[in-house]
Amino acid sequence: MKKMTEKNLKEAFAGESQAHMKYAIFAERAEEEGLKNVARLFRAISYAELVHAANHLRTLGQVGSSAENLQAAIDGETYEVEEMYPAFKAVADLQNELGAQRSINYALQAEKVHAGMYQQARQSVLSGSDIEIGTIYICKKCGYTVEGEAPKRCPICGAPETEFKGF
Ligand code: FE2
Ligand code: FE2
Ligand code: FE2
Repeated sequence: MKKMTEKNLKEAFAGESQAHMKYAIFAERAEEEGLKNVARLFRAISYAELVHAANHLRTLGQVGSSAENLQAAIDGETYEVEEMYPAFKAVADLQNELGAQRSINYALQAEKVHAGMYQQARQSVLSGSDIEIGTIYICKKCGYTVEGEAPKRCPICGAPETEFKGF
């Protein structure tokens, strides 16, 4: 692929990904406001943006086998844990940005777990089998991720067990 086209598709992937996420979040807000059809409209168009993002990513050749995808996921999570969020945290500390300190810390703590879980999954896939894994619980407030059972209180943000969503 020619460089300019590759750059454009990467930019388009980033934009569509953000739109997908924003609309999904806006749908939750519309739901809270009792606007069921507005919520549905946001969810539907959010899905269309997911389709666009997926098409761009596949065209870029960035969707591989699961073993390759797990490695890409490990690399991404590791970058966030080791470089990106620590650097962002340092700036938020320096500038005394309390909201940013909190949302950055929530993400930083959860990403650490993600990298480890992907690592284990990759080992299984490389040895030829799917992972054995129980229910995965995610804290709705901070994204803390845990396998097996939801804790009584989230160790990162203190949210109660009822705030965990199972997968
Ligand atoms: Fe789109
Ligand atoms: Fe993550
Ligand atoms: Fe939490």
